[in-house]
Amino acid sequence: MSPILSISNVSKTYSSGLQALKRVDLEINRGEIFALLGPNGAGKSTLINIVCGIVTPSTGKIVADGHDIQKDYRQARFKIALVPQELATDAFETVTTSVRLSRGLFGRPVEPALIEKVLRSLTLWEKRNDKIMTLSGGMKRRVMIAKALAHEPKILFLDEPTAGVDVELRKDMWNLVRQLRDEGVTIILTTHYIEEAEEMADRVGVISKGELILVEEKTALMQKLGKKQLTLQLQEPLNAVPPELADWNLELKGDGSVLEYTYDGKAERTGIPSLLRRMTDIGVAFKDLNTHQSSLEDIFVSLVSERK
Ligand SMILES: Nc1ncnc2c1ncn2[C@@H]1O[C@H](COP(=O)(O)OP(=O)(O)O)[C@@H](O)[C@H]1O
Ligand SMILES: [Mg+2]
Repeated sequence: MSPILSISNVSKTYSSGLQALKRVDLEINRGEIFALLGPNGAGKSTLINIVCGIVTPSTGKIVADGHDIQKDYRQARFKIALVPQELATDAFETVTTSVRLSRGLFGRPVEPALIEKVLRSLTLWEKRNDKIMTLSGGMKRRVMIAKALAHEPKILFLDEPTAGVDVELRKDMWNLVRQLRDEGVTIILTTHYIEEAEEMADRVGVISKGELILVEEKTALMQKLGKKQLTLQLQEPLNAVPPELADWNLELKGDGSVLEYTYDGKAERTGIPSLLRRMTDIGVAFKDLNTHQSSLEDIFVSLVSERK
């Protein structure tokens, strides 16, 4: 199936001279939840704002559901919705009016049944006649999502949807995102919470200093997460991993003085006792050992720090 969104060679240098994005290529599959993960300042909002036509790219091409966002802006923009990072709502309007106005901006006909459905799905129906300024922060965020959904977009961008949101609302938000995906909306969210990417995403992209440094299925990342490592400090350095130890997944490090064994931390048998016995048998002695479990956070931190 062709991707619903295709981003090619997109870069951005702001007028300050700051290069916020460096040649980003990314394809988003129809119906997936994609999490763009990266520390503050990595370029997440810049990328999203370019796709949504708020920031002009310095180079590159973006096609949204068959429409080039520069040549065919109106058609492309029609398919897209954005819930921006900052809360920005028309404080003096009621919930319903504000959502209806958003639909009107796209020139879509008034359709009360649709507005009702959107408001109900966001548990905003009871609040429909309230002025937005009287609502809690969490409810305001829901209003922003309702406004974004009012023109029936196919691609929904959520820029840090749960930053500064309490745990309850965060869980509601996750459920809502899944529900939207089940209704056929493709979702791209940015987050600097690793937990959120783990929880939500079908695929994860890691962005650091304007570069997209990894794009992977979440489950593949989780498998890496399940890996554990045993590090053995050897008495005498080795030139190579001895052939007698070929059955274990070993790597020689630190000028041959460290033997690193990577194993599946979730497996019933780790293979450690037999490895240590075999090493004793062939006379490879060690003076210290420790184990280490890699988390998505480790993977993330090491990926990001390699680029410094
Ligand atoms: N309008 C702008 N003018 C100049 N620099 C900007 C502008 N917007 C963002 N930046 C800079 O671009 C970099 C990426 O910012 P941003 O895309 O907001 O990152 P993120 O959303 O990942 O936190 C940051 O260094 C930020 O200061
Ligand atoms: Mg941002």
